[in-house]
Formats: sequence, C-alpha cells, structure tokens
Amino acid sequence: MLLHHPVELLGMLLAGLLVPLKQAAEVERALQRRVAMVGSSVLLAGPRNITLIRSVQWEHLSGTASHTILQYERHNLTIHMPYTARAHLHASNGSLLLEDLQESDSGVYRVTVNRAERESLTVLLDVLKPVSHPQLWSRGLVAKASGEVLCEVVEGRADIFTWKKDGQLLPPERSYHLSGSLSVLHLRVAKKSDCGSYSCNASNGISWQETSLNVTVAGDH
Ligand SMILES: *[C@@H]1O[C@H](CO)[C@@H](O)[C@H](O)[C@H]1NC(C)=O
Ligand SMILES: *[C@@H]1O[C@H](CO)[C@@H](O)[C@H](O)[C@H]1NC(C)=O
Ligand SMILES: *[C@@H]1O[C@H](CO)[C@@H](O)[C@H](O)[C@H]1NC(C)=O
Ligand SMILES: *[C@@H]1O[C@H](CO)[C@@H](O)[C@H](O)[C@H]1NC(C)=O
Ligand SMILES: *[C@@H]1O[C@H](CO)[C@@H](O)[C@H](O)[C@H]1NC(C)=O
Repeated sequence: MLLHHPVELLGMLLAGLLVPLKQAAEVERALQRRVAMVGSSVLLAGPRNITLIRSVQWEHLSGTASHTILQYERHNLTIHMPYTARAHLHASNGSLLLEDLQESDSGVYRVTVNRAERESLTVLLDVLKPVSHPQLWSRGLVAKASGEVLCEVVEGRADIFTWKKDGQLLPPERSYHLSGSLSVLHLRVAKKSDCGSYSCNASNGISWQETSLNVTVAGDH
C-alpha cells in the first residue's frame, strides 16, 4: 500500500472530521429544543421571518440518515411513508404538526424553505414516556458498614433524580445516577443518624414521580 503524502493525509483526516463536525454544528444551531409525551402531538415551527413560502421540506435526521417527511412545492404536498396519516403542514408558515408521537420520533428535524440553506432550521425533539413511580429499596444498611439506598423507575427514562432525607434536599454529590432508570444514594458508614425517611424524585422533561422509604440501620441502637 502506498503511503499518502502528509498534506493529502491531512486532507483525508479533515474530510473524515467534517461530517461529524457538520452534524454537531447542526445540533448546536438548533434554535428550538422540544420535549413531548408519547402519544401526544407537537407543532414544530418553521423559520419565523420568511414572508413568502414557495417550497417547504421537512426531514427527520437520525444518526447519519435523513428521512424526508414531506415536501411542498407549487401547492403540491407530498407526505412520505410512514408519516402520511400523522404529519400535517401549515403551508402559510411552514410549521409541521406531528401526531401520535413515538419514542422513535426523537431526534433532529430540519425544515428547509424555498430550497435555501440559510432558510433552514433545525429542531431537536425528545419524545418521552412519563416516568413511573420509583421503587426504593436499601442494601447493606448495617451499623458501621457502608450501605446504599436505590431508586429505580421501571417505565420512562428519568433525566434527573433528586433525593431528600426527612424532607430536606440532599446534595447531588451524595448520589450517583447509573442510568436513565437507576440512582444510588451512598451511605459511607451507616449510622443511627442515617435512619429516617428517604424520598427519591425521578423526573424527565414531561413528568415526575416521588416515592419515600423509611430506613433503619440494623445493629445501632
Ligand atoms: C402556523 O399556522 C398555523 C395555522 O394557521 C397556526 O395554528 C400555527 O400556530 C402557526 N405556527 C406558528 C409557529 O406561527
Ligand atoms: C431570518 O433570520 C435568521 C436569523 O435571525 C437569518 O439568519 C436569516 O438570514 C433570516 N432570513 C431571512 C429570509 O431574512
Ligand atoms: C406533485 O409531486 C409529486 C411528487 O413530488 C409528483 O409525482 C406529482 O406529479 C406532482 N403533482 C403536480 C400536480 O405537480
Ligand atoms: C420533583 O422534581 C420535579 C422536577 O425536577 C419538580 O418539578 C417537582 O416539584 C419535584 N417534586 C417534589 C415533590 O419535590
Ligand atoms: C415512615 O414512618 C412514619 C412514622 O413512623 C410514618 O408516618 C410513615 O407513614 C412511614 N412512611 C413509609 C413510606 O412507610
């Protein structure tokens, strides 16, 4: 295999970098970030300052693929599969109404008006299920040993977990967020003062649920 000239190699490296950078820039440039609940509808607004709309194209970008949702040109609207029954265009302002949202509808949406790059706009949409009531349980709560209280949501993805003890908010560094469904509150050396009522509030952009648990530390009376 031939070695590439360094300048050529640099060019290749840059070409490889530009694609992800361009995508990052697109997400960066997203003027709107929307969250919506599974099953609901969302109205994604088109560019604001366009006086005459001749054509509109809406696309859903997921990963490196882009899927055209609809195209409108010269009063001719084509809605592509599988959006035919649940996508509607407001041709006067380029807004897209998307109904019966599913989690797979999450991602970046791009609207291009009048075929002009500078008249395009991206929207980041996150379609979420409401979080279920967290389940709380404790592990290893024995005096002078380390223990933990765990909080798990079975349905929906939680973006934020907050913990309280006897109604007082605990500092975020006391717990760690293992995934969209689990948070762990660490008690380094369990002691009597750790006994009490713990509550965990799991939330995402559309919902929150809180559960409490009475915790006792064994062998420390
Ligand atoms: C676009 O037009 C529709 C119908 O006229 C209206 O309901 C909607 O609010 C408009 N959207 C924006 C972002 O102005
Ligand atoms: C609309 O506004 C955006 C940002 O304010 C600007 O970049 C764009 O050129 C404007 N488009 C028109 C058609 O004026
Ligand atoms: C409308 O657009 C579709 C697909 O882009 C095309 O097949 C059809 O001929 C167009 N109809 C008119 C009346 O322009
Ligand atoms: C739970 O968290 C959410 C969002 O962070 C907040 O809006 C809500 O008030 C909290 N609930 C309680 C009972 O603190
Ligand atoms: C925790 O204990 C208190 C007082 O003993 C009681 O009122 C409360 O219902 C208990 N909470 C739970 C979640 O068991």
